Amino acid sequence: MLESSVSKGSAKTPRTRARRWLCFLTLFLMVAILMLIFNSSTELSLIFWKTENINNLTTSHVTISSSPSPLPYLVAYPNQYHFILDEPNRCHQESPFLVVIIPVAPQNREARDIIRNTWGSEITVLGQPVSHYFLLGVSKEQDGAQEQVLLESQRHHDILQSDFLDSYNNLTIKTMVMFEWLSTHCPKTSYAMKVDSDMFLNIQNLIGMLLNTPRHLYMTGRVVRDAAVLRDSNSKWFMPFSVFPESSYPPYALGLGYVFSLDLPKKILEASAHVKAVYIEDVYVGLCMRHVGITLTNPPNDGLFRTSVPENTGDCYWTSVITTILQNSQQLVDVWRTYQSQAQSGC
Ligand SMILES: *[C@@H]1O[C@H](CO)[C@@H](O)[C@H](O)[C@H]1NC(C)=O
Ligand SMILES: *[C@@H]1O[C@H](CO)[C@@H](O)[C@H](O)[C@H]1NC(C)=O
Repeated sequence: MLESSVSKGSAKTPRTRARRWLCFLTLFLMVAILMLIFNSSTELSLIFWKTENINNLTTSHVTISSSPSPLPYLVAYPNQYHFILDEPNRCHQESPFLVVIIPVAPQNREARDIIRNTWGSEITVLGQPVSHYFLLGVSKEQDGAQEQVLLESQRHHDILQSDFLDSYNNLTIKTMVMFEWLSTHCPKTSYAMKVDSDMFLNIQNLIGMLLNTPRHLYMTGRVVRDAAVLRDSNSKWFMPFSVFPESSYPPYALGLGYVFSLDLPKKILEASAHVKAVYIEDVYVGLCMRHVGITLTNPPNDGLFRTSVPENTGDCYWTSVITTILQNSQQLVDVWRTYQSQAQSGC
């Protein structure tokens, strides 16, 4: 085929010259048309850009209350964040039954130390190995705190720090980074718990409960159902209609402390590629759970995951719960002492 066409082309008859001419002409025309399209499209996009800007200018004063920008309520996830402090082999080597992850701000060393000296000191409970890790983002301030975090990590080997900016509105990123870490670092672990740093945690009761629960597709905690979406822009958990138009959230476990089987992180991460990341982290986990069709499990009784210390705690309160929100980390020091004496008195 190739050879015959070459031999034909080498014989220059008037007919082939005319054909060449035609070829050049169509080529020229095509280039000209392409240039025209390109020019007008840049012009067109310029016009679009201008109208967008004008729209922005004209609407920015008017619509702040009626339809605020969705941007602050969405979060840059999925994204490529990297660990700058890690314990890459520890979980794999230790193979704990339960891993507890505590999101905490880099500068909150006090909370970390209090946890290390209270419930974080429990490393074998009911014969099951337990380990904890603190999860940090990076601080905006360049005040030498990072060097302290590095030293702390070398001393305790319980710090995971990723390179996103640590802030309230980035808690969803923190939670998803936690799922990323768990899905790749703890192949032989059965459960993980995410718990806030200002919480009392009764690991004994937690393990007791987990020894009687499914090891797959399981998540529990303080499960909230039919929670209303807050449309008051002064609310701490305000969510604009443009970001989430439904009137209530799907079921989710309150972020203060929830437990899940270790097959879930991978599924939640898969879902996150399809679910717009909102800044309310526990709601977002609920949205991902709905996306993959996994239902939340209620805890064996309603009193196990508490949002506050009740008025009358009774003699055996701390030995009867799994979690309770405290006022601050300092309170944990006292509560821990009370818990231990309650446990010793046979509660
Ligand atoms: C819209 O206006 C806001 C502030 O008025 C500005 O920060 C933002 O960059 C503008 N957006 C566009 C697309 O120009
Ligand atoms: C969240 O983290 C990203 C990545 O570090 C950062 O660009 C963004 O400003 C942070 N957002 C807030 C609200 O802190």
